Amino acid sequence: MKNLLQLTFLLLSIGLMTSCAVKQEQEADDTIDFITQQYGLMIEQLEASPTILNPKSIIDEKMKYIPPKEWTSGFFPGSLWYIYELTGDEAWIPYAVKYTEALDTIQYYTGNHDVGFMIYCSYGNGFRLTGKPYEEVIVNAAKSLSTRYIPEAGIIQSWNANPSKDWECPVIIDNMMNLELLFNATKLSGDSSFYHIAVTHADNTIKNHYRPDYGTWHVLDYNKADGTIRHRNTHQGYSDESTWARGHSWGVYGFVMCYRETGNQKYLEQAEKALDFIANHPNYPEDGVPYWDYDSPDIPNTYRDASAGAILASALYELSTYSTKRDYKAWADTIMQTLSGPRYLAPLGENGHFILMHSVGSLPHNSEVDVPLNYADYYFLEALKRKRDLES
Ligand code: GLY
Repeated sequence: MKNLLQLTFLLLSIGLMTSCAVKQEQEADDTIDFITQQYGLMIEQLEASPTILNPKSIIDEKMKYIPPKEWTSGFFPGSLWYIYELTGDEAWIPYAVKYTEALDTIQYYTGNHDVGFMIYCSYGNGFRLTGKPYEEVIVNAAKSLSTRYIPEAGIIQSWNANPSKDWECPVIIDNMMNLELLFNATKLSGDSSFYHIAVTHADNTIKNHYRPDYGTWHVLDYNKADGTIRHRNTHQGYSDESTWARGHSWGVYGFVMCYRETGNQKYLEQAEKALDFIANHPNYPEDGVPYWDYDSPDIPNTYRDASAGAILASALYELSTYSTKRDYKAWADTIMQTLSGPRYLAPLGENGHFILMHSVGSLPHNSEVDVPLNYADYYFLEALKRKRDLES
């Protein structure tokens, strides 16, 4: 009798788990169907133009298109590559190629550190998925980024000096994201100097960019001659001493990626500790999508940042394959469940044909507040793909 009861319980549990998995799979398929329709409409709109347009956001109901030199120019082509990967539908390839190759000149761009975002999300994904001959572009972009390396300070200078803020050599936490280009350029070219720059920058970020509680400063101003810190400030956060949510997500993602590329445990531990900061933060919402700054005094009556949530989810899926310190996959699933729900996922044909609503570009500048952003979509797509890979 006891055995029969146990067997019945076991069979019921298996049945419940299977039906949950089937339901989740169906929801993921529905989200991907929605995305293909939404971005299909986006492409239709863009293709009606005689010139190549690159969409970033929709502001006051007007589409904001950006030139190749804008830091987010790689995300729309990168999203097209992810949609191709998620659907397997080769009809997306010509579009992904067209919007990627429109960024051709960026491989030589040395005006700021964002060349990593611009080239690796576009050409990097194209190369990964199709083996197209993009090696030279990737290596040239790494050379351009390396021109901003300051050996005396051991960091890549993110932005140019800004006398109005008394910044001599500003480095932002976001810069961790650009290191992926460098790691891959070393693999493609055999030139280890890119790898060396990437790990030196990451090591100095650990040393200088994190507070004792593993919150982050957004902007560090380095002394170029000796690498000492002149100022610790914010640009897009609430205050110099607050932790700006997207910047913190960039840091987590960057250190998970550095662990993948080097196998060095210290990068894994840095990501784990930065995540402890979030998990223990009283202002981190249970649904997983952060407010725009962890320390905004207006919480809960202020904006969430879907982009910070999407970046975090993508990083958490990858981390779940390296670490069992927490249930990182369940955490990522919570964020994705929220982002895939009606609060964040746009209605079909609305939201300028972007996927996610409610991101924040820069609240202190009253710029791109509570709008769709192309990088929120990009990291949401990447997270969907990572989730699917983990579950298949
Ligand atoms: N890297 C700029 C930003 O995240 O807004």
